[in-house]
Amino acid sequence: MHLKNDLLLRAAKGETIERTPVWLMRQAGRILPEYRKVRESVSGFIELAQTPDLAAEVTIQPVDLLGVDAAIIFSDILVIPEAMGLPYEMIEKRGPLFPNTVRSEADLKKLHVADGSELRYVTDAISITRKALNGRVPLIGFAGAPWTIFAYMVEGHGSKTFSAAREMLYTQPAFSHTLLQMITDSTINYLKAQIVAGAQLVQLFDSWAGILGPKQYAEFSMPYISQICDAITTVPKTVFAKGAFFVREEMAKLNCETIGLDWNMGIAESRKLIGSEKTLQGNLDPAALYGTAEQVREATITMMEQFKGTRHIANLGHGVYPDINPEMVKVFIQTVKEFK
Ligand code: CP3
Repeated sequence: MHLKNDLLLRAAKGETIERTPVWLMRQAGRILPEYRKVRESVSGFIELAQTPDLAAEVTIQPVDLLGVDAAIIFSDILVIPEAMGLPYEMIEKRGPLFPNTVRSEADLKKLHVADGSELRYVTDAISITRKALNGRVPLIGFAGAPWTIFAYMVEGHGSKTFSAAREMLYTQPAFSHTLLQMITDSTINYLKAQIVAGAQLVQLFDSWAGILGPKQYAEFSMPYISQICDAITTVPKTVFAKGAFFVREEMAKLNCETIGLDWNMGIAESRKLIGSEKTLQGNLDPAALYGTAEQVREATITMMEQFKGTRHIANLGHGVYPDINPEMVKVFIQTVKEFK
């Protein structure tokens, strides 16, 4: 199927582009009233994610309604623990909850390496989405980075400190590596299945990268991200490690095309640390979209000026916040598209 808009893929590979492509992390769900309507027709997030036709519908909504240059498949990073044998719940207004956690050898024995077939509902949603998009824009697949998935599996829920998960790294390093390797192998199988189903670029979200120190990141996160990057060879890869300002130089060595920046990371400084061989993605402060249209335009132009003439995919520095006015998201997108 011929892509009518392949800006994202060309920007990722560092090819010449007519203008900078733009999409938003967490664009599917969260901000659109049209999403909430679909979500209300089912019991909750999990049923929506597990119903391929509906997942495809909300994946395409931002393409239709916001005009982004890519779709990202509607799912969650926590489907991997579920596929490995650790189910989760999504509690309204509180977030994910794992009724069981993984803290002992006995817990570990109940898990298996996922082969991807457990997540048929995601791969089905990807095939349906690809057909429905009909080449309008590329479709992004994704997974959590192993450290971030480990953090949820050990902790059992979101946390500011993930102290139980970080305690594990210090007190049971061998156990931690065993679990991280199982997550890594599962993730490779899962991403390969997403690509077979039709994902045209994949992104790894290391959302909790920033709570590790440099030494621990080097031992417990980077090697697993590196394994995944090496194993995925057929589509461009993006690595977004939120808060991991201290590993930008090492990120340059990863076998991936694009590095995501959060809004704390200076653009010129990041380019210097990462070098010219990677595309950078980001990095407007998501809170900038709380401003007036004029302020959003100005903030977007300021960001675009700093990336000008370099390999860039425009995005926010993290997922769009749920209470952002979709009109301001449109101003952000339009400003990127008009930028010269
Ligand atoms: O980008 C997209 O819109 C595609 C879908 C997507 C979701 N989650 C849907 C979702 C993606 C890419 C994710 C990634 C994800 N999930 C991350 C990494 C990105 C990041 O934000 O750092 C993380 C850490 C999670 C775990 C998670 N899922 C949390 C903490 C929560 C609760 C709070 C929240 O973010 O809404 C979720 C729930 C979730 N995942 C929702 C959606 C649309 C909201 C569920 C609902 O509709 O009630």
